[in-house]
Amino acid sequence: MSKILYISSEAFPFIKTGGLGDVAGSLPRALQKNKQDVRLLLPAYQEVLDKVKKQNCVAETFHYGQHIRILETFLPGTRVKTWLVDSPAVFDRPGNPYLDPEGEPWHDNAFRFALFAQCAVDIALNRCGLSWQPDVAHCNDWQSALVPALLDTFPQRPATVFTIHNLAYQGMFNSQTFFDLGLPAELWGMHGVEFHQHFSFIKGGLVFADRINTVSPNYAKEIQQPEFGYGLDGLLRHRKDRLSGIINGIDTDVWNPGTDKLLAKNYNRRTLADKSKNKTYLQKQLKLPAKAKTPLIGLVSRLVEQKGFDSILAAMETLLSLPLQIAILGSGEKVYETALLDWAKKYPQKLSVTIGYDETLSHQIEAGSDIYLMPSTFEPCGLNQLYSLRYGTLPVARNVGGLADTVIDTNEKSMANKTANGFIIDNDTPAALIAAVRRSLKFYKNISVWKQLQHNAMSPDRSWQASARQYIDLYEQAIADNPHPI
Ligand code: ADP
Ligand code: GLC
Repeated sequence: MSKILYISSEAFPFIKTGGLGDVAGSLPRALQKNKQDVRLLLPAYQEVLDKVKKQNCVAETFHYGQHIRILETFLPGTRVKTWLVDSPAVFDRPGNPYLDPEGEPWHDNAFRFALFAQCAVDIALNRCGLSWQPDVAHCNDWQSALVPALLDTFPQRPATVFTIHNLAYQGMFNSQTFFDLGLPAELWGMHGVEFHQHFSFIKGGLVFADRINTVSPNYAKEIQQPEFGYGLDGLLRHRKDRLSGIINGIDTDVWNPGTDKLLAKNYNRRTLADKSKNKTYLQKQLKLPAKAKTPLIGLVSRLVEQKGFDSILAAMETLLSLPLQIAILGSGEKVYETALLDWAKKYPQKLSVTIGYDETLSHQIEAGSDIYLMPSTFEPCGLNQLYSLRYGTLPVARNVGGLADTVIDTNEKSMANKTANGFIIDNDTPAALIAAVRRSLKFYKNISVWKQLQHNAMSPDRSWQASARQYIDLYEQAIADNPHPI
């Protein structure tokens, strides 16, 4: 059994902006089920504090002129002990954890997540009175990437693992910020956290972690190439012996069509006919004509370039000329919000667009749709295609990252060996997107084939069990690689 400090800037159901929230809300529990001693560390944002009934302060620390309390609670619905970094001036704000009400990064993000990292280091070194010494500090994305760098400046430290959920978000600031934060001078430089004269948080994880992983085997390969590497591919190639990919699992307590309380009607692969009740419900709720036979395409997403909205918008006119309906839920960049709403206004009988973040509707779209559209330009893992597969909603997805690892294109061979579960968009163009959608519609017409595809999609175990074991192996490798063990 290892002691794991799991450090994340979001975790469902406390706070979630995307897939990292889902992972941090479910992997720790899967590790715990596999006999690991896991503690989750999160910032005490206002939204998190609102969900904590009793604020139990178990430790205190001091950084950047702030008196910081460590509050102890449990991740709701689990026995995962969770420590919250409570620094009101820094985290007790309404809204998005990373963005201000105008949708811009909070002006003091470098300071906020440096402070978070400093507190994580205190806990990782067992020096704030919690009487718990982790063997591994597991950091996720740029918001906790300074932790491996800072820990490396100590003569003895726990092992460090850094998971890349998305290399596009790097936590880049000007070089002065590094000095203003009073970080150890030895961390500056191209072999440290400097990136083209700027200060890069993510390099703290990429350079200093004992082990690096990303959230699918395919993305682990892709990020070593210039096309997906954002200039960090050289560093990742240099560290390739320490870099691996572990596909995300899904929380089958939250995402299970058989028990999901947010659905109009539960179903499983033996009661697939009941899935159609969710479709009718969704159509009515979204004010789309309640036509059982018209294929309904769903999409739930952050509205950002990564998710393929440029192709979707360019393809929209043609898509809406096909015999289908589309239901989109998302929030993000204003240009996409406005353009999608404009299309929905023009085609209210075919396209429904809901702008906002809505956990309930996201489950209802997964269950009520026939097809799920995911034309991402890149996708480290992707959880929505995994939810879709579990819900018998066949993905039409790009052949990138984790999508390529999990969506098996429907062709003669994959149909014969019963692995076919979706439709691949083979390049980043509107034409390829339209071609894949057309292909899915052709198969949709064949009821028995479609049912077989749904069976193929719903059958595999997509829970965390297998991946949690791979993380446990990774922790062991990190512990073995740690040059300065405690
Ligand atoms: P990413 O982390 O890049 O956003 P993922 O597919 O890994 O992509 O995970 C996205 C998660 O966020 C899923 O659980 C998805 O359902 C959820 N999500 C995204 N946008 C919304 C929204 N507007 N409302 C509700 N859930 C959303
Ligand atoms: C990121 C990626 C997404 C991945 C998620 C969880 O946000 O964009 O592909 O599924 O992290 O690992």
